[in-house]
Amino acid sequence: MEFENIIFKVEDGIATLTINRPKALNALNKATVEDIEKAVDYIAESKDIQVVIITGAGEKSFVAGADIKEMADYGPAESGKWAAYGAGVITKIEKLPQPVIAAVNGFALGGGCEISMAADFRYCSENAIFGQPEVGLGIIPGFGGTQRLARLVAKEIIYSSKNIKADEALRIGLVNKVVPQAELMPAAIKAAKKIMAQGPVAVQIAKKAINNGINADIITGLAFESNVFGLCFATADQKEGMKAFMEKRKPEFTGK
Ligand code: CAA
Repeated sequence: MEFENIIFKVEDGIATLTINRPKALNALNKATVEDIEKAVDYIAESKDIQVVIITGAGEKSFVAGADIKEMADYGPAESGKWAAYGAGVITKIEKLPQPVIAAVNGFALGGGCEISMAADFRYCSENAIFGQPEVGLGIIPGFGGTQRLARLVAKEIIYSSKNIKADEALRIGLVNKVVPQAELMPAAIKAAKKIMAQGPVAVQIAKKAINNGINADIITGLAFESNVFGLCFATADQKEGMKAFMEKRKPEFTGK
């Protein structure tokens, strides 16, 4: 696969998608979002990829938002289409069957914050800054921020376009872990490997149950959960996992 603005590699079951437009602090122009979509479509079909890490190139920025220069002259129709496209690609990230970790290595503003929120969880380096600065540009978050951030934390962040530093992001539950910059990717890979040591089918079913449940009422969520709980018992992983427990050894999952 050829990409212009991302670096994509798969190693030991971990796909790393690095958004790579350092001259614009990895801002999302259309070509970049198209690259992300292509990689995400590939990941969704892959049987070899078990965990995905999304990060930004360089030490300063994860993603500084949608490309302001590219959209500055857009009219209502074009910008509406752009927001729907970007939000759609970010939703594809959220819907990936594999767990997704955002390794946030600096600015995660606008569309960058929105990508990080579509991940299952976030690790960040100590220099990370999160924010939805759109109202300061006279627009609103358009790649899912008004939906996902409001579900995650507080409306104040959107209304005030206030940036959130790593330590506050940790305190309010926006990120799971803060580490020094040099330790960010090793920490994300360690988290990925910990996930990969579990039953692979169960991890993906759990992700589906959580995502479906969040978007439904609790009764519907619980019904979905018991349904897919039953499904787990049709897998070889469940047989192996329980057998290994009884035999007091580590399970050898096959992902089937
Ligand atoms: N779009 C386009 N270019 C961007 C950009 C963006 N979102 N963010 C940074 N850049 C470019 C700058 O224009 C600059 O390019 P030049 O060297 O050609 O001038 C280069 O990246 C470096 O940026 P700065 O010189 O500004 O770096 P800084 O360290 O002084 O500031 C910053 C860093 C605080 C992140 C600042 O760049 C900034 O405020 N960026 C914009 C952040 C923003 O408003 N994001 C939201 C965009 S709207 C959106 O995302 C809508 C949505 O929901 C989809």
